[in-house]
Amino acid sequence: MTVHVSLKDHASARPGPVVVGEEQVRHIAAREALLDAAFGEERFAKTCERLREGRLPADGLALVALMGDTLVGTVRLWNVSLGANRPGLMLGPLAVDTSLRSAGIGALLMREAIGRAREAGHRAVVLVGDEPYYRRFGFDPSKMERLWLPGPVERSRFLGLELAEGALDGASGLVSPTGREAPRWPGLELGQAWRIAA
Ligand SMILES: CC(C)(COP(=O)(O)OP(=O)(O)OC[C@H]1O[C@@H](n2cnc3c(N)ncnc32)[C@H](O)[C@@H]1OP(=O)(O)O)[C@@H](O)C(=O)NCCC(=O)NCCS
Repeated sequence: MTVHVSLKDHASARPGPVVVGEEQVRHIAAREALLDAAFGEERFAKTCERLREGRLPADGLALVALMGDTLVGTVRLWNVSLGANRPGLMLGPLAVDTSLRSAGIGALLMREAIGRAREAGHRAVVLVGDEPYYRRFGFDPSKMERLWLPGPVERSRFLGLELAEGALDGASGLVSPTGREAPRWPGLELGQAWRIAA
C-alpha cells in the first residue's frame, strides 16, 4: 500500500510515496533510533514494555513505513491475553519521524495494522495512548475498566478496539504477554537481545 504525503519539512526529507510493509531485520537499527528520538530511553520503563520484553511481535504485525529506503514510521502489535482465555493484541509503540508528522503516515500505519490484525483473525486490540489521537481509529476506554496491566497506567489512556463485535464484553483480569519468546544470542546481554529481536 502506498500513500503520497505532502511534506511540511522539505529541507530534511525527500518527497515521495510512503509504503507500509512488514519490518525486516535490516530495519531494526533505524526503528530503534526513531523510537529513541520519539520517546527517549525512558520508553523501556513504560508499563507496556512489560508485555513486550523478551517477546516477538505477533506474526505479520511488525510494520514499517518506508520512504524509499528510509524508515519513517513504525508500529508493532503483540500477542496478549486480556484476562483469562481471551486472546488479543496490544499495539505499540507507534511513532513517525519528527520531520514527517501530520502527513498521514501515523494514520496509514494504524489503518494497515488494524486491517492486517482483523484479516489474521484477531478479535481485539488494546493500547495505552492519547485518546484524542486514537479515537479516530475506533479506540475508546469503555470496556477496559476491569482489565489491568502489569504496572501503573492512567485509566483514561488505556483504550480498546473490538475487531469482532462483543470481543471485549465482560473483559476482566490481568493483561499478560503470550507471544513467542525472542531468541537469545550467546554473548549478548538479555536486554540487548530483546531490543534487537523485538
Ligand atoms: C502520534 C504520531 C505517531 C502521529 O503520527 P502522524 O504521522 O503525525 O499522524 P497523522 O498524520 O496520521 O495525524 C496527525 C494528526 O494527529 C494529531 N495528533 C498527533 N499526535 C496526537 C496526540 N498525541 N493527541 C492528539 N492528536 C494528535 C496531529 O495534531 C494531527 O492533527 P491534524 O491532522 O488536525 O493536523 C506522531 O505524532 C508521533 O510519532 N509522536 C511521537 C510518538 C508518540 O507519541 N506516539 C504515541 C502517541 S500516544
